[in-house]
Amino acid sequence: MRALLEKIAAEGEVVAGGVLKVDRFLNHQVDPHLMKRIGEEFADQFRGERPTKVLTLESSGISPALMTAYELGVPLVVARKRRPLTMTGEVYRAEVYSFTKQEANEIVVSRSLLDGFDRVLIIDDFLANGQAALGMVEVVRQAGAAVVGIGIVIEKAFQDGGRLLRSRGFRVVSLARIASLADGVIRFHEEVMNG
Ligand code: G4P
Repeated sequence: MRALLEKIAAEGEVVAGGVLKVDRFLNHQVDPHLMKRIGEEFADQFRGERPTKVLTLESSGISPALMTAYELGVPLVVARKRRPLTMTGEVYRAEVYSFTKQEANEIVVSRSLLDGFDRVLIIDDFLANGQAALGMVEVVRQAGAAVVGIGIVIEKAFQDGGRLLRSRGFRVVSLARIASLADGVIRFHEEVMNG
């Protein structure tokens, strides 16, 4: 998605440890026009799969996931990292280990929000090691629902998440694929492939 690649090139910043800082448009300050286009793109990619719900993980997945759900005309379910006081009923839960933060988090979704008839589109902002996506896949599995696809705004293609999810048969669509952040330079997969 050209507008996204241009935005990453113009405003993305590489910080220590192979981390891409995108807090001017994706996860701190949010560019609503770009999110709208991202939502349209994911909706176009996955409409044919007839999703009934979009699922994301708080907090940075919410902006692109909301616009996708809006475009598809289906509800957005936000998996929570901390169980809110108001979530009193039964929940689906999965463990998500963050290699970046070196800690395990439990994610929870109320059982009342997903059932065996749901066709779930998973949306997230980053794909690195794939643990967040796998946690959401596990929640969908517990609900007896189907994962119809996984949409990622920025895939760090030099980490293993993409391979892991695709090898399990999931259709993963990434709008930007980063081949490398080495030496503080953002290199896109597309550029690498074009020579
Ligand atoms: P994984 O889910 O793919 O296994 O990724 P990992 O454990 O490595 O990443 C954990 C968190 O760090 C996730 O956010 C993920 O979105 C974020 N992250 C990973 N790589 C980058 C990066 O290069 N740049 C930025 N900005 N974030 C990255 P989170 O902990 O769920 O936080 P949030 O959604 O509340 O912001």
